[in-house]
Amino acid sequence: MDSKILMTVLLSFVPVLLLLSSTEAHVEYGAYNTTCPQAEKVVYEEMVNILATSPDLAGALLRLHYVDCFVRGCEASILLNSTSNNKAEKDAELNKDVRGYEVIDRIKAKLEVACPGIVSCADIIALAARDSIRLSNGPNIPIGTGRRDGNGSSASDVPLNLPSASANITLLLSLFAQYNLTAKDLVVLSGAHTIGKAHCYSFSDRLYNYNGNGSSDPRLDANYQTVLKQQCIPNDVTSLVGLDANNATAFDLGYYSGLSQKKGLLTSDVALLDDATTNAYVLLQANKTSTDQFFADFATSLMLMGKIGALTHGKGEIRKQCSVLNPAPPPTPTPSPAPKPISASPEMRSAFSSVLSACLVLSYFFIQFY
Ligand code: HEM
Repeated sequence: MDSKILMTVLLSFVPVLLLLSSTEAHVEYGAYNTTCPQAEKVVYEEMVNILATSPDLAGALLRLHYVDCFVRGCEASILLNSTSNNKAEKDAELNKDVRGYEVIDRIKAKLEVACPGIVSCADIIALAARDSIRLSNGPNIPIGTGRRDGNGSSASDVPLNLPSASANITLLLSLFAQYNLTAKDLVVLSGAHTIGKAHCYSFSDRLYNYNGNGSSDPRLDANYQTVLKQQCIPNDVTSLVGLDANNATAFDLGYYSGLSQKKGLLTSDVALLDDATTNAYVLLQANKTSTDQFFADFATSLMLMGKIGALTHGKGEIRKQCSVLNPAPPPTPTPSPAPKPISASPEMRSAFSSVLSACLVLSYFFIQFY
């Protein structure tokens, strides 16, 4: 082929290639290595300090990453406050007990001093979740960064994307599948319930009103039920119970062994026993002594979850304050209209041409006679 034709054909693909590369989300390891090399260290040191005084927040921050990613993607929509004309995600019924917002604000304040306007709130949530796992004796997961912050949040998006505590396996599988997360990802990520707590109202129907008939859930171990009833009296709206009956502060296999012993706390946890793939994984981990495989699986699935709907390549913004959108930039001044050419009236034009003609006649005579 003629080299010019070849070049033309190749060049005609450039816009398509540019478009493709700009729509592919890149959450990559060490995205702040040049722009803010100390970013991950700042987050880790703050997390060490925070969890030293409030160890309960480890679970809260891991959950924050999940509820952020499942609604609009991992772009910090969960952190935005409601406004007079918009009810935000954090005020949705399903999110009423999500905690840890003040931790993100505290870390953001430190990062704005270290590297103003560089580190996104979405990345701070992801890094805080990563460090919560690590500081609970879990794996140190090499998560990617480079997410940017979104520009909206709506409470009405929440029930469509987040399963409730009473979700069955069909609903759980389909909600995860909408983000290309498999049955294995579902059972692995649910393993996050190895740390953290749930309010009594998230499972009290299983104790006092199973299927609306005043009985208790037969899939709940009888002794465990007695313990739970002591911790949660009917209509208790404040008390918290560990999600992992064995040890709710260590990132370990206790969640799976609890599930296999009829000690799963939420209906959605017990639902994992109702699908062949998820059931097999629960039983596999329940009988292991080494956490190696669970840790490796959790790292893989968490990194997948952390890429859901991530905004990169200049989309979105880096919020200055995580709970509010950046102020809109001032409108660009519209260029003042070009001055109109002064147009002469017909009378002026005829007067001007008369003067001009007279000048021409006079010059003619002047040249002739002198
Ligand atoms: C599979 C679907 C899921 C459902 C239905 C679900 C539901 C819940 C519920 C109802 C609570 C207790 C809220 C309360 O009563 O205060 C909770 C807590 C928690 N969830 Fe999930 N969750 C799911 C998946 C996940 C995932 C994928 C993660 C993280 C990767 C996660 C991490 C956590 C953590 C760490 C807590 C404890 C929070 C705290 O201590 O404040 N959950 N979840």
